[in-house]
Parts: sequence; structure tokens; C-alpha cells
Amino acid sequence: MFSPFFYVFNFPFIDRIFAVETSCMKTSVADIRKEYKQHSLNEGDIASDPFVQFEHWWQDAVNSEIDEVNAMTLATATKQGVPSARIVLLKGYDPQGFVFFTNYDSHKGQELADNPKAALVFFWKELERQIRIEGTVEKISATESDEYFHSRPEGSRIGAWASPQSSVIPDRNVIELNVAKYTSEFSGQTIPRPEHWGGYRVKPTVIEFWQGRSSRLHDRFKYTKTEQGWKVERLAP
Ligand SMILES: Cc1cc2nc3c(=O)[nH]c(=O)nc-3n(C[C@H](O)[C@H](O)[C@H](O)COP(=O)(O)O)c2cc1C
Repeated sequence: MFSPFFYVFNFPFIDRIFAVETSCMKTSVADIRKEYKQHSLNEGDIASDPFVQFEHWWQDAVNSEIDEVNAMTLATATKQGVPSARIVLLKGYDPQGFVFFTNYDSHKGQELADNPKAALVFFWKELERQIRIEGTVEKISATESDEYFHSRPEGSRIGAWASPQSSVIPDRNVIELNVAKYTSEFSGQTIPRPEHWGGYRVKPTVIEFWQGRSSRLHDRFKYTKTEQGWKVERLAP
């Protein structure tokens, strides 16, 4: 830092002082860059089925002990095509699709009711990998949602009742009062799953695997669902 003496006698140059300070103390955003050189992805390496490929990369990610490996960006859009995105947690996958849980009345839930299409993105920086998924979305069955709901800790089950997700609330007290109300209401009994809470399955039509390479010349393979099965194509980085 500059001494007060420095500021007093350099007052006319205050703009310059700030400029110098900024360039010395902060890294310019544009200067942040990283070379990706850990892995490659080649035609000979990839599975013909994207779910098999996903399973390989998922296992690599789990074995790499990536923190919150199941965190993924979920993008939805209104009927008019206005997009919104947020992180949710992957809670299951199989050849039918990728499952996450949420409040059906939330902002994303309302968008999905109007426009049941979504995109998912995983970024596993430790492996320099990205997976992009696009597809149609449907609610999972009530039985599947019940099964997962009842596996959650009690606090999370009460939370699903207590939070009108995405609604404007005057203060946090609203939530605390709801937690107290539902804790007392369900005391001594099995907490039921609220109807407004459950799972969605993203049923992919496109899945892309991206492996970071040096000089921004990354490897990309895109799987597209066709009547004959999955078509695989390499994309330019
Ligand atoms: C790491 C992480 C995990 C999250 N997981 C979920 C989740 O599984 N389900 C969910 O509804 N919200 C989850 N959230 C909160 C969402 O990002 C979001 O705030 C919330 O779902 C409301 O989104 P909406 O208003 O667009 O509907 C998560 C947030 C973070 C940062």
C-alpha cells in the first residue's frame, strides 16, 4: 500500500495511482489462462454408446475424488426461448437418462412445464473434461421420487416442505417458521414427500465429450441420437 504521505503529495495523479495499484495487485481477467495437457480423446478410445462413454468418464471422475463430482449446470428456457441456468446434483443415470431432484413449482419447474427441454453441463477441471447433454425432460414416477425422498436426511425432507423454492420471501424467518411448523406437524411419523417435490429425467438426444488439449486444440466428440442409433462425430475445438 502507499503511505498517506504519498497520497497527499500525489493527489493530482490519483488516477495513475489507482491504475498502478490495480495492475500490481490484481491479475487481469484476460490474463488468466491454463494449458490443458493431461489427456487426449481419440476415435479409437471412445465407446460407440454415449452411456458407456459417460460411465468411463464418470468412474474416472469419481476415482479422482473430485469435490461434488455430481454437480452439473442445468439450463432450461421459457417457451419464448429465454434461458436460465443453475447448478443441480445428478442423482442417477442409466440409458434412459440423467436424473435430478427439485421443487416442481420452482422457476426451473415452471419453465420445464412450459418447455420440457434442457441442457446439462459437467465440468471436471481436475481431468480437464466437460460433458454436455441436451434432451427432453420428463418427471420420473412418483414411486421413484418417493424412494429417493425417503432416503434423504430428515432436515432435507423438512426443507422440501419448508421452502417455496424460487418464491420471493420477506426474510429468512419465513423459512425458520416453516421448518418449525412442519417439524411439529410430522413429529413421530414418516415425513411424506410433498407433491411439489420430485425428480426429473433428462432424456438425451445429444451428448458431447470434451477433452482439453494444449493450445486450445481440444478433442470433442458429439453423439446424436438417430433412428438407427447413436451417430458419433468429431467436432472442431
Ligand atoms: C452445488 C449445488 C447443488 C445444488 N443442487 C440442487 C439440486 O439438486 N436441486 C435443486 O433444486 N437445487 C439445487 N441447488 C440450488 C440451485 O442452483 C438453485 O438455486 C435452485 O434450484 C433454484 O433454482 P430456480 O429458481 O432456477 O428454480 C444447488 C446449488 C448448488 C450450488
